Amino acid sequence: WYCTAWHQNKDIKPDIYMSKTILIVGAGGQIGTELIPHMQQLYGEDHVIAAELRPQVCEKLSEKVRVECLNALDARAYASVIKKYRPDWIFNLVAVLSATGEKDPQTAWHVNMGALLNSLELAREYKCGVFTPSSIGAFGSNTPSNGTPQDTVMRPNTIYGVCKVSGELLSDYYYSRFGVDTRSVRFPGIISHGTLPGGGTTDYAVEIFYAAVKGESYTCPIPHNSYMDMMYMPDALQACSGLIEADPSRLKHRNSFNITAMSFCPRELYEVIRRRVPDFKMTYRVDPVKQAIADSWPDYMDDACAREEWGWNPVWDIDAMADDMLRNLKVKLLK
Ligand code: SER
Repeated sequence: WYCTAWHQNKDIKPDIYMSKTILIVGAGGQIGTELIPHMQQLYGEDHVIAAELRPQVCEKLSEKVRVECLNALDARAYASVIKKYRPDWIFNLVAVLSATGEKDPQTAWHVNMGALLNSLELAREYKCGVFTPSSIGAFGSNTPSNGTPQDTVMRPNTIYGVCKVSGELLSDYYYSRFGVDTRSVRFPGIISHGTLPGGGTTDYAVEIFYAAVKGESYTCPIPHNSYMDMMYMPDALQACSGLIEADPSRLKHRNSFNITAMSFCPRELYEVIRRRVPDFKMTYRVDPVKQAIADSWPDYMDDACAREEWGWNPVWDIDAMADDMLRNLKVKLLK
């Protein structure tokens, strides 16, 4: 029934969906590559534009969508893309993730905040909305980690988290000071079989499936009992379109909403996969940087505000996700 629900959702196309142009910046990453077809389905192929830095990735994307090769830190080049397409919404997906960020914090700040500031400034000037994902990484070790409330202590210990909290504040500031329609969710680890995530602490929950399907054993960098929130990609895509279509008069929060779909630790995910791939083996070689990051993040968040204010309602649980991941990766890797 998960799949039925998902396809039914995709088939509903109220008129409002047809009248918007969506610019996805940082479109070649894990979320962007799947947000492109999702948005094309809702708004029409000609209403989705992808912007991406890496020329080879641009070339690949251009088979499916109109692409601009863009460095989002170049304000002038970014402005010319905005003037050309006059989007209604910018999805600013440019980000150096948590584990990579710790290797070069200055670059992480420069990239993560620079792209956001340019997006917000252009949105102010050319009157469009901005969706920028925040993350479980916005929380820190003194945040309540069980049932993490929507509004709580946010003192993250990573540069990635510092950027996310700063980004939430800056986005709220642009809303209250300049009236820019900024909206955001705090994504958990996102699991998908399309483009791999790169440099995140939650990446293990994707990599483990690749190993299982290839018949390899997996060496897990996260401690066996470390819980983090997770979500399957179709739910994450629903969050993106659901929030930008939400009635603004119902939004008490904007930047950013807690959302989650499941919470598990490596040992539990391993058991779920092993029930489907009985020979699958996993060992641990804990990465101290990732361990410290995972320890400082919530075990599970309370997403009641997102449910109340814009109808957030995920459909994929760990078993349905695992079945779908294995099925799709078999097709992708073993053909
Ligand atoms: N998946 C991200 C990371 O691990 C969290 O938002 O960095």
